[in-house]
Amino acid sequence: MMTTLKEQSVPKVYMAMSADFIHAGHLNILKKARELGEVTIGLLTDQAIAFYKRIPLLNYDQRKIIVENLKGVTHIVAQTSPDYSTNLRILKPDYVIHGDDWKFGFGQKIREHVIQVLKEWGGQLIELPYTQGLSSSHLINDLRRRGITAQIRQLSLKRLLQIKPLIRVMEVHNGLTGLIVEETSVETASGYKEFDAMWESSLTDSTSKGKPDNASVDVSSRVNTIEQILEVTTKPMIVDADNGGQLEHFQFTVKTLDRLGVSAIIIEDKIGSKRNSLFGLETDIAQQQDTIEDFSEKIRAGKKSQITGDLMIIARIESLILNLGMTDALNRARAYVNAGADGIMIHSKSESPDEILEFSKQFRKFSHSTPLVVVPSTYCSIKEEMLIQANINIVIYANHLLRSAYPAMVKTAKSILENSRAYEAEEFCLPIRDVLSLIPISQ
Ligand code: SPV
Ligand code: MG
Repeated sequence: MMTTLKEQSVPKVYMAMSADFIHAGHLNILKKARELGEVTIGLLTDQAIAFYKRIPLLNYDQRKIIVENLKGVTHIVAQTSPDYSTNLRILKPDYVIHGDDWKFGFGQKIREHVIQVLKEWGGQLIELPYTQGLSSSHLINDLRRRGITAQIRQLSLKRLLQIKPLIRVMEVHNGLTGLIVEETSVETASGYKEFDAMWESSLTDSTSKGKPDNASVDVSSRVNTIEQILEVTTKPMIVDADNGGQLEHFQFTVKTLDRLGVSAIIIEDKIGSKRNSLFGLETDIAQQQDTIEDFSEKIRAGKKSQITGDLMIIARIESLILNLGMTDALNRARAYVNAGADGIMIHSKSESPDEILEFSKQFRKFSHSTPLVVVPSTYCSIKEEMLIQANINIVIYANHLLRSAYPAMVKTAKSILENSRAYEAEEFCLPIRDVLSLIPISQ
């Protein structure tokens, strides 16, 4: 078909959007965009968004339907990275349009690159004043503060597994640590970072109650703590269910946690008197591993008793902890996946990551996509980039909030005793006004 002169002269305008939450600020920019010419929306993929902020509430296809129905949108293309350059070089737009709020923070570098790339064909960046008080991040955070349904939370771990190469999980043992995992983020040279999910650890749950990690905190108490944490957070939770207890009890635990919206539970293949896996670091206490047959049966029973089908049951292999060798660990991994495990956690108490890297290499030969979980407590020097390279999907920082809080609290307690007053300890403490504003009264 011949292009008419009129069509040739319509300028091309490019606007990137995540469109998870559309507000008047976006529509102002879109209005200006269609006055300038024919609008192409670069719709950010879930992966591109996860690179610089939380994963979107709506997935790409849902967001695309919304954008397709916005007035003045002619084309939609996927923008697979926060950086615009690939799409810009293909489309060569006359204008890129954006709010002026990206002049600072994470957007700054992206903006500079857009200006530079547009120069290649004489394109122009148009910036509109940012609509004060309207930001999709603020609106989404506000929405999250109001709460989340059990089902959306539960499914969000599976969504994260599809979107992110590595899921970063931090230990929680009460509402406050839940809030820390919920809210803490950093902006580094390699992008925005936050924790993706919470680990409700048996070790730190018991320790925070002044009890040993030997299952003396019973399931009801664990569930109580889990509920407290779920009440004030929105991120997915993975629960450390020790060895799941007796098979008939485990089936009830699965149902309870499923109903609460827990995303995954991890059960370990040990039997007998429960001891923490890292306990043998000091004294080698004999611990016994379950048989492959019985543990596989437990996995099958757990899968059968879940209500929704969305709760993941992850099998934790203790062969390396018990010095029973790589072959045993791999045989068990194969059997547990066949029994229906939705993921494998390989644990190690070595100071070097070599054995879990070797496990992953061998495991990936027969299971390409089963999520693999690691807990680098003893081999803590390993960086997340290396775990990604090794095709590991979930990293759990299993005890670090509790371990860092304890010495800080003892230091303050000692200071007060030594000085017969609290004055000297003030410098270690959060100011009282900050304690009061830490958790605002919600409307
Ligand atoms: C926990 O955090 O309770 C765990 C991990 O089970 S570990 O302590 O390393 O065994
Ligand atoms: Mg534990």
